[in-house]
Amino acid sequence: MDTYLPLKKVAEIFGDPSLRSQITKLEESGDIPPSRKYRSGALFRKGWSRNVLPQIGEKVGYFKKFDRPVALSVFTTKGGVLKSTLALNLARTAALHGMRTCVVGLDIQGDVTTALGHDCDLDNGSDLEDIIERLDQTKGLSDLFSGQVSLDEIIVQVGLPNLFVIPETPELVALNDSLNNINRREFWLKEKVVNPLKDYFDLIIMDCSPNWNKLTTNALVACDALISPLECKINNFRNFKVFGHFLKEFKDEMGLDFESVFVPTKYSQNRKLSNDILNWYQGNVDGCTSIGIRQSVLAEEAMALNLSIVEHASTKPIAGELMTLMREIHDRVENHLEETADNGHQGARVNGAGRIQNIEGRF
Ligand SMILES: Nc1ncnc2c1ncn2[C@@H]1O[C@H](COP(=O)(O)OP(=O)(O)O)[C@@H](O)[C@H]1O
Ligand SMILES: [Mg+2]
Repeated sequence: MDTYLPLKKVAEIFGDPSLRSQITKLEESGDIPPSRKYRSGALFRKGWSRNVLPQIGEKVGYFKKFDRPVALSVFTTKGGVLKSTLALNLARTAALHGMRTCVVGLDIQGDVTTALGHDCDLDNGSDLEDIIERLDQTKGLSDLFSGQVSLDEIIVQVGLPNLFVIPETPELVALNDSLNNINRREFWLKEKVVNPLKDYFDLIIMDCSPNWNKLTTNALVACDALISPLECKINNFRNFKVFGHFLKEFKDEMGLDFESVFVPTKYSQNRKLSNDILNWYQGNVDGCTSIGIRQSVLAEEAMALNLSIVEHASTKPIAGELMTLMREIHDRVENHLEETADNGHQGARVNGAGRIQNIEGRF
């Protein structure tokens, strides 16, 4: 169902209540779609459908399109530390700002695909047979690998007109094994999926599992920046050290130069140890962001509603924090693009171009 949002809420989502007058002017000049009357309880109000928010965000928002298509991987070797949450929030923020965004689900758990709202109506399906048939029909990366489908056939729209996902399917496990048996086994995703996607999308976000498997190494090879959560828990310290070591070794060995952005997650404001860990990360981890994601039920609720934290809790402190974090990640990626533009890394628009032509008409 299409939901409508009033002017105040739209301004909050794009980071500043004072945007209200700018949005009103853009509406008057016809530069954004007109607001419509909608029913809210017993009252009629005016507002915009969620589907047109990308057209407004592109004009007034803070998360501007990058100069060239960008691929991000979200990964660390621990589960439950907000990888999929970060993927969801980055994806919706980018899409709300008018970027053509595609999430690539690489974790068999399928959390990001669910969080984006893919097949969220399955629970209401009439009977089990129907549901099973629909699930069987979902094609994914392993079907692309085996040549049964083309790339455009596995990309599904979710939640916003410019937001898409390549959903995880159970066969990802087999794909991981198959990748072990081909030449250039770390490059399949980059060459056959991410580079072709860059012809049509502004942003590609890969949500990884917590394991160093072939899908993960493929995602690292394919990305311009790694977004990696740092859980603010004592037992994550050791995990992080080992992870940092492996990451450096892999980068060096493969000659990769992606940016690493570390994001502290799940800290509790009122627990001293948690704050100490947060401060330690910020003082000692190269590439750690100045703001993290606090422990919050609002973030969990947002995920269950297939929304970003800012959309769900736009007036709460956590929304301000998330916006600052999104801006910081954006700036880090932008600076990295500038630095690498001179090194011949520009515009990796190669192999497979044309294979996803059909998708164009779907925006
Ligand atoms: N800020 C938060 N505080 C506490 N729990 C959160 C927060 N944000 C998300 N969650 C919940 O934590 C769980 C794990 O998050 P998830 O992003 O799936 O982790 P990962 O992808 O690293 O395994 C999910 O159920 C999610 O809804
Ligand atoms: Mg996950």
